[in-house]
Amino acid sequence: MDGNGRWAKQRYMPRFFGHKAGVDALVRAVNLFADRGVEYLTVFAFSSENWKRPSDEVSGLMGLVLVAVSKYLTRMAADGVRIRIVGDRSAVSDKLRMAWEHAEDSTAHNDRITLSVAFNYGGRWDIVQACQRALADGVAPVDLTEDALGRYTALSFAPDPDLFIRTGGEMRISNFLLWQAAYSELFFTDCLWPDFGAQHIDEALAAYAGRDRRFGGIRMPETVTAGDG
Ligand code: FPP
Repeated sequence: MDGNGRWAKQRYMPRFFGHKAGVDALVRAVNLFADRGVEYLTVFAFSSENWKRPSDEVSGLMGLVLVAVSKYLTRMAADGVRIRIVGDRSAVSDKLRMAWEHAEDSTAHNDRITLSVAFNYGGRWDIVQACQRALADGVAPVDLTEDALGRYTALSFAPDPDLFIRTGGEMRISNFLLWQAAYSELFFTDCLWPDFGAQHIDEALAAYAGRDRRFGGIRMPETVTAGDG
C-alpha cells in the first residue's frame, strides 16, 4: 500500500493525513476485491523496516491502526470479512495486540474474504521464524521439505497469492511475501495507495487474466475431451 506520504504531500498535508486516507482506501478495496470473487487479500501495513521511520510517524501509525480497528471492525465483520494479522507481535503494545486478537476472534466465522494484515512483517523474518519453529518442533533436516516448511510460515492458512500488486510506482518487492510470491504475477501501478479503487483493481485483474502462468513448466496445448453426445 505504497504512496500515502506522496499523496499527502501533493495536498500540502502531513504524511499522517495520507496514512489516514490509506485506511479508508483499504476498507474500500477489501469490498471491491470481495465483490470480484477474490477470497484472500493480504496487505503490507507495516514492515519490519518501518521502525526506521521518524518516531512520530511510527507512533502515529500504531495509533491509527488502533483507531481503525475500533472504527471499522463492526462494519467489516458485517461485510463478511475475516481479519487475520501476520507478523511479529512481540514488539507491538499490549493494547494493539489485544485489539488484533479481538478483531481476529470476532471475525473468525466470516468467509466472504480473508483480509490478512501484515504488520511488523518481513518476508525474511517469516522464513527465519518458520525455520526456528520447525526446529523447535524437532523436525529433522531430511523432513524439512518445501511443504513442511511452508506449514510454519505466517500465511500457511492461505493459498499462495496469484497476483501481487504494488502501488506507488516502485518496481520492487521490498521484502513482502518472499516465500509465498514465488510464482505470483506481479503488477505495478503508479497510482498512489489512497487513490486505489475499482478502476485500478479492474486493470490489475485484467492484466492478470492475460498472463500465461506456467509455474516453471511449459505451456501445454489445449486438450479437447470428446463428449458422448
Ligand atoms: C507506505 O506509504 C505505507 C505505509 C508504510 C503504511 C500503510 C498503512 C496503512 C494504509 C494503514 C493500515 C491500517 C490498518 C488498519 C491495517 P509511504 O508512507 O511509504 O508513502 P510514500 O512512499 O509516498 O512516502
